[in-house]
Amino acid sequence: MGVEVRVEGLTKSFGGQLIWRDVTLTLPEGEINVMLGPSGTGKSVFLKCLVGLLKPDKGHIYIEGNDVATCSERKLYEIRKLFGVLFQDGALFGSMNLYDNVAFPLREHTKKSESEVRRIVMEKIDMVGLQGAETKLPGEISGGMRKRAGLARALVLDPEIMLLDEPDSGLDPVRTAFLNQLIVDLSQDTGATFLIVTHDINTARTVPDNIGLLYHRHLAMFGPREMLLSSEQPVVRQFLNAQRFGPIGMAEEKDADELAAEAAAGVELPPLPPIPLQLTPSDGYARDTQRPPGEWCATYGIAPPPGSFQPTVTAGAMS
Ligand SMILES: Nc1ncnc2c1ncn2[C@@H]1O[C@H](COP(=O)(O)OP(=O)(O)O)[C@@H](O)[C@H]1O
Ligand SMILES: [Mg+2]
Repeated sequence: MGVEVRVEGLTKSFGGQLIWRDVTLTLPEGEINVMLGPSGTGKSVFLKCLVGLLKPDKGHIYIEGNDVATCSERKLYEIRKLFGVLFQDGALFGSMNLYDNVAFPLREHTKKSESEVRRIVMEKIDMVGLQGAETKLPGEISGGMRKRAGLARALVLDPEIMLLDEPDSGLDPVRTAFLNQLIVDLSQDTGATFLIVTHDINTARTVPDNIGLLYHRHLAMFGPREMLLSSEQPVVRQFLNAQRFGPIGMAEEKDADELAAEAAAGVELPPLPPIPLQLTPSDGYARDTQRPPGEWCATYGIAPPPGSFQPTVTAGAMS
């Protein structure tokens, strides 16, 4: 289960406004990927292009031999069934209770009987910890519960590819820790390929196999987690360590004068923090996609920051 998504030379603009150009990356089959980037850099637009809701200007998105960017509407309808998507706003139907919201894709896309629908819906509602809330309307529950209901709905068709747009925004740290564990467990259970947009640095550091960073209208970097967490490239380093110093300013990009002033002031960057271990599935087994900790660094002759890959620095243990 899980399919590869291969993106080649993708470019998207609205009118005259370029969002990003020439994005090339591969989401490997069954792996968890995180996409980072300052607000407004087109992360949500990227997810919408992957499911074919937005058409890129140029480039290709290959999924099982089809190109989402250029295929017919009919083909697209088929390909979409591979996806489970949690949009940034949850996108639940306000007039339907949670049960009907979660059941919607099943009733729309399958011919399952209502008793089968019930079994699947209750299983997913259980999985995201919403048992007992089925009859509530989206307006009657908290933002965190709406996110989890959206996640349950994204799961009902047993997707091969899960796209989660800021599933953790507005969640408290404890809920975020539970959500991250849920994502890792889902990945283990389903083998689906995940792409998660998040602003949570702890999530980005511990959950994925691969990390990407959109910045300044292009993909600044995409690759194995260890590659980005040991990177000295200023924008990657600044973003993954939540630092003030670096090319990203309050208004997204600092101008040349500010950067020159920082350079002249000889701003010393703090050392890179240790690379934590990846969050493990709660069944106690290693992930199917697990690479030995430190392997990437060793292969490329990069010394990880001191203290990396120690059990004491896992997010799971902390949170
Ligand atoms: N349908 C659309 N039409 C025109 N502009 C859009 C549309 N969707 C998004 N944009 C613009 O694209 C840019 C990137 O938006 P978005 O993908 O939502 O950013 P992010 O998710 O990284 O915060 C924004 O400037 C936004 O206004
Ligand atoms: Mg967004």
